Amino acid sequence: MSDRFFITTPIYYINSAPHLGTAYTTIAADVLKRYHGLRGRAGFFLTGTDEHGLKIERVAKARNLSVRAFAAEMSVPFREMWPKLDCPYDYFVRTTDADHEKRVGEIWERMKKNGDLYLGSYEGWYCVGCEAYYTEKELEPGGICPLHKTPAERIRESTYFFKLAKYQDRLLSLYDRRPSFVQPITRMNEVKSFVRGGLEDISVSRTTFSWGVPVPNDPAHVMYVWFDALFSYLTPMLATPERRAFWPANVHMMGKDILRFHAVYWPAFLLSAGFSDDELPRAIFAHGFLTVNGQKMSKSRGNTIQPLALAEAFGIDTLRYYLMRAIAFGQDGDFNVAELIGRHNADLGNALGNLCNRVLKQTETVCGGKFPLQGEPEDLERALLEELAKGARAAAEAFDAMQPHRALEAIWQVVGAANQYIDRAAPWAANKRGDIGRASTILGTALEVLGAVSTMVWPVIPRSADAMRAQIGLLPIAVGDHDAWPVAVTSRRAGEPLGVAAPIFPRIDAEKEARLLAEFGPIPDESMPTSGSPAAAGTSDESARTGGKAVSEAASGSAPSPATIPYDDFAKLDLRVGVVLRAERVAGKDKLLSLSVDVGEPEPRPLVAGLALSFKPEDLVGMRVIVVANLEPRKFGKGLVSHGMLLAAGPSEALTLVTVGPTAAPGTKVK
Ligand code: MSP
Repeated sequence: MSDRFFITTPIYYINSAPHLGTAYTTIAADVLKRYHGLRGRAGFFLTGTDEHGLKIERVAKARNLSVRAFAAEMSVPFREMWPKLDCPYDYFVRTTDADHEKRVGEIWERMKKNGDLYLGSYEGWYCVGCEAYYTEKELEPGGICPLHKTPAERIRESTYFFKLAKYQDRLLSLYDRRPSFVQPITRMNEVKSFVRGGLEDISVSRTTFSWGVPVPNDPAHVMYVWFDALFSYLTPMLATPERRAFWPANVHMMGKDILRFHAVYWPAFLLSAGFSDDELPRAIFAHGFLTVNGQKMSKSRGNTIQPLALAEAFGIDTLRYYLMRAIAFGQDGDFNVAELIGRHNADLGNALGNLCNRVLKQTETVCGGKFPLQGEPEDLERALLEELAKGARAAAEAFDAMQPHRALEAIWQVVGAANQYIDRAAPWAANKRGDIGRASTILGTALEVLGAVSTMVWPVIPRSADAMRAQIGLLPIAVGDHDAWPVAVTSRRAGEPLGVAAPIFPRIDAEKEARLLAEFGPIPDESMPTSGSPAAAGTSDESARTGGKAVSEAASGSAPSPATIPYDDFAKLDLRVGVVLRAERVAGKDKLLSLSVDVGEPEPRPLVAGLALSFKPEDLVGMRVIVVANLEPRKFGKGLVSHGMLLAAGPSEALTLVTVGPTAAPGTKVK
């Protein structure tokens, strides 16, 4: 890979404010730029606004505004929003920039000279929402646009055509030679079969409105919005030699809705404008579409959640982490607020935040807040460092393949392994028996791994990564010209000062969760059931939403059947993943074992369980179990108190414990 990384987002239409969908694309692009920055590549992030077209002209006229002034005003929220989501761009292009208009004019002339633009006339069905013509076949019955569900308009006009058909074979050969030109691969197949189906020349100018880039030497025409919009990826990059050096784009990032424009028209336009195959974009990535709480995003339904409101309520990093982790990048996905809260508490708070906290607190106790002097590594250290190397390799491969969700999965395997390592290596026990050397080795190893983790998570959660680094005594990430991806653990010097431990991801407790769900959770829908399912819990939460239209059970007339419980009752159970740290027999009680279980809290929980007929105590140590964590404490006599209960199945002499896989960190909520 080259030493540069140029990534773009679509230039967004200004007829609506930035929303979660456009934020998703922008965050993904920022994450990839940051990752490549860590790998020592100079990055360039281009975004902007698409301001021409009939749609804008109509809205401005309806409001009695000058179109130019209206466009300028509507572009501002985009320009301002992305840095607030920690997506700083290197250049913000507007299709109404004088420089853009001038350069597109020059490109038009070049393409005309090459014989690829010719004048003709066109009659067809036009959807203003899409700014595109449709064939009758493509429209839904009644001449309805399949995307906007509004009637397409019959338009006849004199127009310039672009000779797209001429490029059919070159495009097909491009796709064959460069299988990663369109990603994910399944999308490439779609594009290929579309092009194989036969391309027709496309109309690239309009005479029916005037809000566009004027066609050179033919003032009756303005350029088709997609013509000038696609070239907005190029025009700003021609402005300086530094920017030119970034051409072509490594990735044009977008949603699947506009793939065809990018995978078919765009390379054909570039070839026509005189670019060689090597000067075509390296990859076009089409990600999936998001729904919100299972519902299509739409203004009319009021569920276009504002990205900044989300960032404010949950934290920018939680939003970024959730979007990049929970939705397989490339596939459609649902933005689910309950799941977001779950991931905040489990992955960020319990797994990563807690790891950091535990290690720092122990280091404070054992080494007075200084980086520990490490002794010889033992098997446990070697195994953890191997996990780290494996995780770092897998995460890099995933980021390289534009699969941030997989990268995070790999990084969280390391986080899980590090938590397990602390459980097993038990630095507090070494400290208690006076073995400061061993305790220091454990804590030093954990701190090194935390340092590596802070680097790897930085592309996705930059603020938290730097906060973590400050706590473990490292400088914030600064991308430079060297590859900073952790491959091996570099030894830090003993005695280096560490920072102060503080929670990086404060827990969202039940009360806050209820409030956030009321504000951002699913919008009640009459078709939803009113009891007995998680969806029903969503509706009852909704009653707190201002102006919400939740139907209460009484109002809807359906009382819960006696054999079932409402979801809210189930939700009262605090089920958590626990790791058994210690297990002992209880003198005089042959069925009981006394356990100490880490459920992600600062101190392990004392538990008493009737497991002695089925398990040897030593077999339980290290097991990942499910703990009912909010059960009233129960006394067993002789001062024994159980603060929770384990889930198990079977008769008391042949019990099976309910367990979870190794990636669930202690404290992870079970739901
Ligand atoms: N102006 C054109 C793009 C021209 S690029 C040369 C355009 N603009 S848009 O404002 O409609 O933005 C479309 C893009 O917004 C999608 O491709 C995608 O990146 C993002 N999304 C809009 N809604 C979305 C979802 N519901 N889910 C995910 N992304 C979505 O098309």
